[in-house]
Amino acid sequence: MTQRSATLYRPFLSGRYTVSAGLFRLGVQPVPFIGPDAAEVLETHTFALDDTYPAFVASKAAAHARALHEYAGEAGLTPALRGAALAFIAHTLAADSDGVMTWDGKQFSNAALGWTAALDIERGTVESLTRAVGPLSHLVADLQPISALDFLALNAPEDLALLARHPATGVDFLAAVHVMSPQHWNPLDKLGRDFAFVHTPVAGSGPLNATAPRLVDAVISRGPFVRFAWGVAMSDHLDHHPAGPPDSDRAHATTFDPDRAFLRVERQTLTGFPGAHGALFTIRPYIYPLREAVADPAHARALAAAHRSMTPEQVEYKGLTALLPDLLAWLDGQSSDQQGSDGQSLNSWREMLSRKPNEG
Ligand code: HEM
Repeated sequence: MTQRSATLYRPFLSGRYTVSAGLFRLGVQPVPFIGPDAAEVLETHTFALDDTYPAFVASKAAAHARALHEYAGEAGLTPALRGAALAFIAHTLAADSDGVMTWDGKQFSNAALGWTAALDIERGTVESLTRAVGPLSHLVADLQPISALDFLALNAPEDLALLARHPATGVDFLAAVHVMSPQHWNPLDKLGRDFAFVHTPVAGSGPLNATAPRLVDAVISRGPFVRFAWGVAMSDHLDHHPAGPPDSDRAHATTFDPDRAFLRVERQTLTGFPGAHGALFTIRPYIYPLREAVADPAHARALAAAHRSMTPEQVEYKGLTALLPDLLAWLDGQSSDQQGSDGQSLNSWREMLSRKPNEG
């Protein structure tokens, strides 16, 4: 198993929360907020295998056992799009796995799970599955993948969705979901729906939705892209399906506690298959203890500023209405207290600027 630690992404460093496309061309445009130094890094991968992999396998296995049909489904998925997506996922997941997984066009093996499956990409099926002992095989001992998409999704940390566009009408729709780490949304509510319907609950999504046809076109015919979403969460659970097991995040009685707060970043990729009139959308959550994510006072300041740039509706949508005052007070403390002279000078500089000329 890979011992690589999870990449640290801080998409809030701009100090602004925006509901916008924020697409970076994978392999072309560097992502500007990676690692402790917020460096610019040119990313090329779709799937990210690191030392958090066991947590994804365990969470997906629990969701699968509890109620797979609440997390996964298909609506009008054509064999052409299914085949293009399955071939891409199998090939790319193996290529991104540092040798843990292999794919020869027929057989997909995962040494960590001890799985070797014969997949029929055309039919979308698992033809056979053999199980050996691997470091994580105990987590999947009772799992029975029901299709090639289900099988591949269980091997990946990422959640998967297939976006389709009808070639004659130009109408787009979500043709498949396999989303086991949803952030307080129900994957089945979105199945078969178009981009604007999917994003209607997002506060301030009007302008984004107005550009939906252009976005969908870009995603299918010009990618691949990577984009990021982020928010503060009060639990480190991956699965926040509305019908899933309850936890402290967005629970009525939860109050802000910096030692139980997390930054949840979702890295999302979009890869188009123009010949099959669709695209693969991957979603990969990263969950960092909030203290680590804003250990640098400048980062705490940026996160506070980004929250202050939200509308009340956006604060509500993010589940932060009750928590925001305490979150901001804590972030402000992190921005200045630990900062010593720097923070002091910034505050006095602000005070000076806000004074009327005749006070000086
Ligand atoms: C170009 C492609 C896309 C863009 C620019 C985009 C943009 C966004 C943005 C800005 C948000 C708000 C995030 C936040 O701050 O909480 C969001 C939420 C969301 N997006 Fe997308 N998105 C894209 C593709 C997709 C696709 C293909 C799906 C299909 C599953 C999807 C599903 C969602 C869902 C389910 C939410 C949360 C909605 C809810 O709470 O009900 N997005 N998206």
